[in-house]
Amino acid sequence: MAVPFVQDWDLVQTLGEGAYGEVRLLVNRKTEEAVAVKVVDMSRAKDCPENVKKEVCINKLLSHPSIVRFFGHRVEGNTQYLFLEYCSGGELFDRIEPDVGMPERDAHKFFQQLIAGVEYLHSVGITHRDIKPENILLDDKDNLKISDFGLATMFRHRGRERRLTRLCGTLPYVAPELMSRTEFSAQPADTWACGIVLTAMLAGELPWDQPTESCQEYSDWLQRKTYLTPWKKIEATPLSLLTKILLHDPDKRITIPDIKKDRWFSKSFKSGAKRMSDSQGPVTKLLRSDSEQAPLGSTNSEDRVQISSSQPEPALGWSWESGVGGAQTEGLLVSFSQPACPDHMLLGSQLLGTQGSSQSPWQRLVRRMTRFFTTLGVESSCAALREACTSMGYTWKQSCTNQATVSTMDRRNNKLIFKVHFLEMEERILVDFRLSKGDGLEFKRLFLKIKRQLGDIVNSQKVPLPVT
Ligand code: ADE
Repeated sequence: MAVPFVQDWDLVQTLGEGAYGEVRLLVNRKTEEAVAVKVVDMSRAKDCPENVKKEVCINKLLSHPSIVRFFGHRVEGNTQYLFLEYCSGGELFDRIEPDVGMPERDAHKFFQQLIAGVEYLHSVGITHRDIKPENILLDDKDNLKISDFGLATMFRHRGRERRLTRLCGTLPYVAPELMSRTEFSAQPADTWACGIVLTAMLAGELPWDQPTESCQEYSDWLQRKTYLTPWKKIEATPLSLLTKILLHDPDKRITIPDIKKDRWFSKSFKSGAKRMSDSQGPVTKLLRSDSEQAPLGSTNSEDRVQISSSQPEPALGWSWESGVGGAQTEGLLVSFSQPACPDHMLLGSQLLGTQGSSQSPWQRLVRRMTRFFTTLGVESSCAALREACTSMGYTWKQSCTNQATVSTMDRRNNKLIFKVHFLEMEERILVDFRLSKGDGLEFKRLFLKIKRQLGDIVNSQKVPLPVT
């Protein structure tokens, strides 16, 4: 992709993709500053120009440590470019181990930062409407950043609040009143989604497909059957908060000011017992095992248009060819900082005021969990994976020698589609999995199942070390 106006900025790689287009990583050749650019092809849908305009307007309003920073935007023909803070820590959902979750203290910190971001959004009259782990990113210091304002809207203007009518978001995160009422308040619906995110962080699973009484799991929750999963995995104090957040009636649901007073929320986790990973720099983090590594932007599922329990199939393929100077190489580290001077890349465009650099040097370029090396060549790796997938009943479609698309249904009978790319690297084959459609946690579950099945051909060697 040529972006002629972006002088001195190299398009390093694709970070994520969705129905809108894709998000790419730009790195400044001279200063090594990094930014994410969301590239929106406005000819994709009739309402696209209008939607992007709204997304830009909302982004311009926002400034908070828990919100992905917006540097500016630019239009070139039918394409909109949105320049955003680059979050090198990847998506929150990649910190969630399927069926397990994450350490409670991590979930606590992320939840506090999430609530701070949502409280800020509400204070300026904006509702996000699609809060889910795939839309929550992490920076190099593991600070949470709410991203993707493509579905966001204003619910309060000049002190006057309006009720919402549009049914949008992602089914497992959607509040029950959206399913049953024609009008609903914006704030309790975002709060509900935060509760589902907290459940996913503490239990590694989503509690239900959708919050309707026809859904057994939701009906069990209404009957307070907390001896069932996922609730039985959650400690009493956070569970008590969840029972206040996931209250069916939005008028009785806990508000953000009251969440902040909750016992678990306001608890302080002892800082003395720091986790190993907290004290490690990014270089040492590279040595951690696959399952501990966080991926970067595997899918920035933009479940735009509709209410759906899964992600739309991306219309775009993803590419590896945009790397510059081999910078997309797995494990290669580059010195990054956020742009101190974003006008370098926004020549003549609508630039917003920015402050200085916020990222430390030596960040990892790509962090993704859903990949491994194999001990075989491309063809044999591909054949072994095809055999494993077809034996498990998945549909295998080879698009070219080094790429295939796999489709299946997940445990909840929702469509799950992912792409597998075979990449030759330093005499080894990197097998990279990327979710195209479906639930992120289900995708990770399935990835681990395939990896286990392939057992002996999976190379336990870690990604190459950086050359410093
Ligand atoms: N994926 C989507 N948006 C991103 C961002 N701002 N930083 C990193 N990865 C992303």
